[in-house]
Amino acid sequence: MKIIFLGDIVGKTGREAVKKVLPKLKKKFKPDIVIANCENISHGSGASNKTLDEMKDAGINYFTAGNHIFKGVKNGSIWERDDLVRPLNYPSDSRVPGVGFLKMKILGEEILLVSLQGLVFMPEYIESPFRIFKEFLSEHKNKLVVVDFHGEATSEKITFGLAFDGKASAVFGTHTHIQTADERILPGGTAYITDAGMCGSQNSSIGIDFQEIIKHFETGLKFKTEPGEFPAIVCGVLVDIDFSHRKAKKITRIFEVVK
Ligand SMILES: [Fe+2]
Ligand SMILES: [Fe+2]
Repeated sequence: MKIIFLGDIVGKTGREAVKKVLPKLKKKFKPDIVIANCENISHGSGASNKTLDEMKDAGINYFTAGNHIFKGVKNGSIWERDDLVRPLNYPSDSRVPGVGFLKMKILGEEILLVSLQGLVFMPEYIESPFRIFKEFLSEHKNKLVVVDFHGEATSEKITFGLAFDGKASAVFGTHTHIQTADERILPGGTAYITDAGMCGSQNSSIGIDFQEIIKHFETGLKFKTEPGEFPAIVCGVLVDIDFSHRKAKKITRIFEVVK
C-alpha cells in the first residue's frame, strides 16, 4: 500500500503548487492515498472548508494538522469534516474541537491516521504525545497506524520514532517546514522522516514573505504577514507499507520545485 504524505501546505502559493505537482506525482507513484498537513493552508494560518475542498479536488484524501489549525479559523464547521484530524494530545475538553484520529479505508483495509503534537519548544500546554500514543495503541491493538508528529525539536521527533518503531507503520514529522534528509526505515519497520517539509514559497521564511519576518527579527514585534510568492516547493514522502505485517518496505523523499 502506497501513501503520499505532503508537509504543511502554506497559503495560496502552496495550494497552487500542489495543484500543479500532485497530478504528476500520482501518475508516477500511483499512491493508494494522499495525506497532507493543512494547518497553514488558509493564508498561512488555519484552514477553511473552501481551501480544504480545493485540495480535495486536487487529489488529497485526508488532512492532518498542528498548533496553527486553531488560528485564523473563519469557519468552525471544518470540525464537522470526516477527513481532518487535529493533534490527539490536546486535552479532552468540550472546548477543544475536532478529533485526534480517524479511520481511513484503503483497499478494503482499515488504517488509523493519528495526529500528535510535540512539547519541546512548542508554546501549547498539552499532554505528552508519548504517553497519549501509548494509551492509544493499548486501545487499538494490531491496527495499521500512521502518525503525523508535529513538532519543533528533531530530538523529540526521532525519539518518538524509535519509541514506537514497529508499532506505528509510519511517522511523518511536520511543523518546521524544512525538509530533513534522514528518511529511512527504522530497525523495527517504521517509515520515518524527521520533517517532511512544506508546500509553499521557496524564497520565503518557511512559506511567509521574508520581508515581513525581517521586521519581526529587527524589532521583536509581530507584524501582519503574507504568504510568499512563486517559485514554490512541494515536499513530502512516498511510503510503501506491507499490509500483512504492517511494516514499511520503502520511504522515498519528494522535493519538487514549481516555477
Ligand atoms: Fe506549519
Ligand atoms: Fe505548526
